[in-house]
Amino acid sequence: MALLLCAARSEPSASPESPAAASRGVERQAFGTTPAGDSVDVFTLTNEAGMSMRVTNYGGIILSLRAPGRDGRADVVLGFDALDDYRSDAYAASSPYFGALIGRYGNRIDEARFSLNGTTYTLDANNGPNHLHGGEPGFDERVWRADPFERADSVGVVLRYVSPDGEAGYPGRLDTEVTYALTDDNELVLDYRATTTKATPVNLTQHSYFNLGGEGTGTVLDHELTIDAEAFTPVDSTLIPTGTVRPVAGTPFDFREPTPIGARIDADNRQLGIAQGYDHNFVLARQDRDTLRRAARLYDPDSGREMTVLTTEPGLQFYSGNFLDGSLVGKRGAAYGPHAGLALETQHFPDSPNRPAFPSTILRPGETYTSRTVYRFSVRTDPP
Ligand code: GLA
Repeated sequence: MALLLCAARSEPSASPESPAAASRGVERQAFGTTPAGDSVDVFTLTNEAGMSMRVTNYGGIILSLRAPGRDGRADVVLGFDALDDYRSDAYAASSPYFGALIGRYGNRIDEARFSLNGTTYTLDANNGPNHLHGGEPGFDERVWRADPFERADSVGVVLRYVSPDGEAGYPGRLDTEVTYALTDDNELVLDYRATTTKATPVNLTQHSYFNLGGEGTGTVLDHELTIDAEAFTPVDSTLIPTGTVRPVAGTPFDFREPTPIGARIDADNRQLGIAQGYDHNFVLARQDRDTLRRAARLYDPDSGREMTVLTTEPGLQFYSGNFLDGSLVGKRGAAYGPHAGLALETQHFPDSPNRPAFPSTILRPGETYTSRTVYRFSVRTDPP
């Protein structure tokens, strides 16, 4: 075990699940070797409060996230303990993108093509006729350079990946940098930066699946969700936006007040039918990129765990884990069935390169793509 950074500033508070939690700092260990022969590492980040997170520089995957609850900490993200589990045939067949960084383009691009400045670019069609999550392999399967750090108020790791000109069909070399910082206030702060050598679409996101009751303990249908969106983008049968922006009022997509996820998921609604649940982009209340604003709040009444999502992005993909079919077995040995976890992917809208009316995703040479998302964890002490 290589102990890289470990400043023992104070002992974290004891918790029933992790009596021997490490001191504040970042610990680096070997995680395995990819088929291409690259060795990858796992970084364990532990903050002042004893919250911890394991992340690997293979795909930037968050392997575990132990968040406090009324009765102690629990691992609130779906995933596995070993690298091989992220490379198995069963995993590739269901493509859940557990915990991974997604690029160059989070979500779908219609018919895997777009035109920019008079040139049509053809992308990898890896989701029926469409391009999903940057193609295969996407950023979720790349080995990122990793530089751990320890700052006054956070511990973390900076991940860098250079995507060559033409990768997956995209123009321009994209220099990408993603910082994961776990603050002493139990916030996971994600900062994305990118520059390009040619105009190109960029829409980076993070694909963690959360279950605030603890991974492998059941479904998220009882979790209460709030989404700060007045509208969403309805989709066609291949989950590509039709181009309309529909008000949520009076529909099962109205999460402006806290609502259990399962309350309306089986409603007779064409959009829910297409996606077998929620798998839709919500149009957040403002469109500018400058301010960090609340996008959503998730609350598990049983454990008291609460997660608040803040972002500079204009959209939020709420995916209720509809396609999890029990074929993957998670960290505590439980099969992940439908709704075992949910993703709240902060992003620009799907298919924006083909939708001039949507906020632009085009990054040009000389510009810097920046984006910030915060997942803030807290505990409500009031009983359910
Ligand atoms: C995204 C998509 C879903 C699904 C998951 C991964 O959230 O919107 O349709 O593909 O990724 O399984």
